[in-house]
Amino acid sequence: MSIAYFNGAYLPLEEVRISPLDRGFLFGDSVYEVIPSYAGEFFLLTEHLERLQRSLAAVRIRNPYDAGAWSALLAELLACNADPATPDLGVYLQVTRGVAPRDHAFPANAQPTILAMVSPIRPLPDRIRTEGVAAITGEDRRWGHCDIKATTLLANVLARQSATEQGAAEAILLRDGQLTEGAASNVLLVLDGQLVTPPLEPSVLPGVTRSRVLDLARELGYPVAERPVSENELAQAAEIWLTSSTREILPVTRLDERAVGGGRPGPVWQAVHTAYQNAKPGAPASEPMQSGGAV
Ligand code: PDD
Repeated sequence: MSIAYFNGAYLPLEEVRISPLDRGFLFGDSVYEVIPSYAGEFFLLTEHLERLQRSLAAVRIRNPYDAGAWSALLAELLACNADPATPDLGVYLQVTRGVAPRDHAFPANAQPTILAMVSPIRPLPDRIRTEGVAAITGEDRRWGHCDIKATTLLANVLARQSATEQGAAEAILLRDGQLTEGAASNVLLVLDGQLVTPPLEPSVLPGVTRSRVLDLARELGYPVAERPVSENELAQAAEIWLTSSTREILPVTRLDERAVGGGRPGPVWQAVHTAYQNAKPGAPASEPMQSGGAV
C-alpha cells in the first residue's frame, strides 16, 4: 500500500479523506506537478518546484512551503515508499486553494490543501524502443492558459480518451492549424535538418523534460529551433517525439494512421534518448556521446 503526504501527515493513500467542499474538487481550483525520481533520487526537482511556484503565483494560491521544505517533505515521501521492486517513482503533487463554502470567488481564509502521492515509472518497453507509438491529431479545445499546470484537465482527458479509443498513445493538439502540444506531453519534431518545437507561449506547458531534451540535443550538436509549427509541417516530419516526466521521450512512428519518417524510431531520437537515460540519477557510467550535426 503506498504512503501519501496529506496536509502535514504521512498516511496510507487509502486513508486520505478530501472534503467535498475542497475547491480542487468543486472547481478544479488547484495546480499540480509530476516529479520523477530514479533509484530514490529526484530528477530536475528544482525545475519542477520553480514551475510549481509559477503556477501557484499565476492563480494566486499561497505557496505553503519554500523549496527547502518541499524537498525535505518529498524526500521523506520517497523514503516511506522505498521498494526495490519499484525503484523509480513519479511523485504527483497537488495544491488546492483549500476548503470553503461553495462560491466562485476566492474564500477569505482558506488553507491550501496539499496532497502528494507516488506511482511507479516503468522503463520503456522494448517494443516501444523498436517500434515507437501511434498518435492522433485533434483540435486543441483547452483554455488560454495552458502554461499554468492547473488540474482543470477535462479537455486534455477527452483528447487522450479519443487517442486511446483509436489505439494511439497520445493526442497531438492543433489550434488554428498550428501545433501546440500533446494531451499530457510536449511535442518535438525533426524537420528539415533541425529539432523543432513550438515556442513557450500560453498555449503550451513549459515542460521540464522538453527543456532538458532541448539542452541535451544542443550539447549533442543538433540544431534546435523553437518556432511555430504548422499542421502541414507536422505531417512531413522525419521524427516526432513526445516528452513528459513520466513517459520521458516517446518516439511517434504513426500519426493518424500514416507512418512518420521510416516508420521506426529515428536516429536523432536514439541519440537523445540515450543521452537522457545517461543523465538520469543512478544511470550506469555514461556511454560516450555520439556527435550530432545536421539532422
Ligand atoms: N503532464 N504538456 C502537458 C499538457 C502535460 O500535462 C505535461 C506533463 C507536459 C510535459 O511536462 P513535463 O515534461 O514537465 O512533465 C506537457 C504530466 C506528466 C501529467 O499530467 O501526468
